[in-house]
Amino acid sequence: MSGLHVGIIMDGNGRWARAQGKPRWRGHLAGVDSVRDVVRGAPDLGVTTLTLYAFSSDNWKRPRGEVGRLFWLLREYCQRERAELVENGVRLTQIGRRDRIPKSALAELKKTEQATARGRRLHLRLAIDYSARWAISEATKRLARRVEQGRLDCKAISCDTLRRAIANGVPDPDLIIRTAGEQRLSDFLLWEAAYAELYFTSVLWPDFRRGELALALSEFQQRERRFGGVLDAGDAAATAVGQ
Ligand code: IPE
Ligand code: IPE
Ligand code: MG
Repeated sequence: MSGLHVGIIMDGNGRWARAQGKPRWRGHLAGVDSVRDVVRGAPDLGVTTLTLYAFSSDNWKRPRGEVGRLFWLLREYCQRERAELVENGVRLTQIGRRDRIPKSALAELKKTEQATARGRRLHLRLAIDYSARWAISEATKRLARRVEQGRLDCKAISCDTLRRAIANGVPDPDLIIRTAGEQRLSDFLLWEAAYAELYFTSVLWPDFRRGELALALSEFQQRERRFGGVLDAGDAAATAVGQ
């Protein structure tokens, strides 16, 4: 049974650290505990796909030391969590560019992707060196190449063609959560988010645990998703006739 796809923009590590008088990287370190807890709790909350925004392509603008620590944390996470992920039926994959990820982190990431490939309980997607605009332009490039090679008719390109090229079979996110109060997408899942419900919380990422996820999901359950249609078709028809 396919459940919910939740995307999370994990923000506020720096502010969490500052509030405690600690260096920024301590916030990232605490943020890993939140990742672990949310990944553990997600399946029981009906989540079958979880996309976590861990490092944006714009995050390369940060000081070298901070970037280095973030990739060190990624390597550590992959190493330490691998066995538990396998045991819990979690399949981990990465989305985003792979060519700029430091070698040692990439090696651990690949090992974890391979080791967890058979996980069926939760698909955990880590967005690393990710940019939605980049993902869309890459998909466009792939389609253009097929047109060039005569394998795709330009006139046959539709939203569905693009959707398949961009999302690679992964269902659109139902809910996108952003922590730490900012209300923007920061280049996260721009195509896929067309009808996602958005949930903003002031809770900083290191304080966001499975209980916070449960709270977000219970609010999500109250939302009325119409996808451009009407909820009660009979009622709508009556209104249209009666005007
Ligand atoms: C999110 O926390 C982690 C990453 C973007 C890698 P931040 O580091 O952006 O934390 P703030 O926004 O400075 O508080
Ligand atoms: C978005 O957070 C990226 C991640 C959470 C990985 P940022 O902190 O980088 O985004 P802005 O700069 O506030 O938009
Ligand atoms: Mg931030």
